[in-house]
Amino acid sequence: MAEADLLGDALLDAWRGELRSPLQLDRDDGRVITIEVERWLALDVREGAALIVSRVAAGARVLDVGCGAGAQALALEQCGSRVTALDVSRGALAIALHRGLRRVVHAAIEDPRAARGPFDVLTLFGNNLGIAGTLAALPRFLGCLASRLAASGRILADVSTDGNVREALLRLRYDGRVTPWFPWLWVPLDALHKAGANAGLRTSLVATTAYGYVAEISRDAA
Ligand SMILES: C[S@@+](CC[C@H](N)C(=O)[O-])C[C@H]1O[C@@H](n2cnc3c(N)ncnc32)[C@H](O)[C@@H]1O
Repeated sequence: MAEADLLGDALLDAWRGELRSPLQLDRDDGRVITIEVERWLALDVREGAALIVSRVAAGARVLDVGCGAGAQALALEQCGSRVTALDVSRGALAIALHRGLRRVVHAAIEDPRAARGPFDVLTLFGNNLGIAGTLAALPRFLGCLASRLAASGRILADVSTDGNVREALLRLRYDGRVTPWFPWLWVPLDALHKAGANAGLRTSLVATTAYGYVAEISRDAA
C-alpha cells in the first residue's frame, strides 16, 4: 500500500484554504512542532530564494531535491534556469506543477534511476541535507547527490547554524492520521565538511544570511 502523503494533503488543503487541522511534527524526544504550512506555500517570503538565484547562472540545469511546493524551484525557473523539481510528496508536486513548474519527478532522491542528470546545480533548501537521516549515512547520501552532477557541477544547501550534529526520528500528524517514524539529520558546517571529504567532495561556506548558512559542495579537484 502506498504510504500516506500527509505533507502533501496538508499543503493541498492549505492551498485551497481548507486546512483540516494543524500539521504537526512529533520528535522522538517528545517535542511536538507545529509546521507553518502557509509559510511553506508562500512564494514571496521565501528567505533563501533571492540568494539561491544569485548563485545560479541563467540556463543552468538545476535539480531541486525535496522541492516541496516549489518556491525555490519556481524562483530559479523564472530567472532562466532549467529546473527539475523532485519530491516524494505527490501533493507538493501537484502544487508545484500548478504553479508553472514543467519538469517534476515523483521519487525519492535515493533512487538512482530518478533524475539522473547530469545537472549543473543541485539545490537542497529547508534543511534538506537532513534527508540523509543520520551522520553515518551522510557521505553515502552526498555521493548519491554528486552522482547526478556534471563535471563542474555543485550542490547548494542550507546548513544548521547551532554547531551541533542532531539526529532525530520524526513523524507527521495531520487530520487524525500519522506517518511512520523517519530519521532526520541537522548537520553543522564542520561535520558536513568531514562527511563530504569522505565522499571525495569539497565543502565551502558561500553565504551567511539572517536565517542560516549556505554551503556549496563540489567535486574535490585535488
Ligand atoms: C523541509 S521540506 C523542504 C521543502 C522545500 N525545499 C522548502 O524549502 O520549502 C522537505 C521536503 O523534502 C521532501 N523529501 C523528504 N524525503 C525525501 C526524499 N528521500 N527524496 C525526495 N524528497 C524528499 C519532503 O516531501 C518535503 O517536501
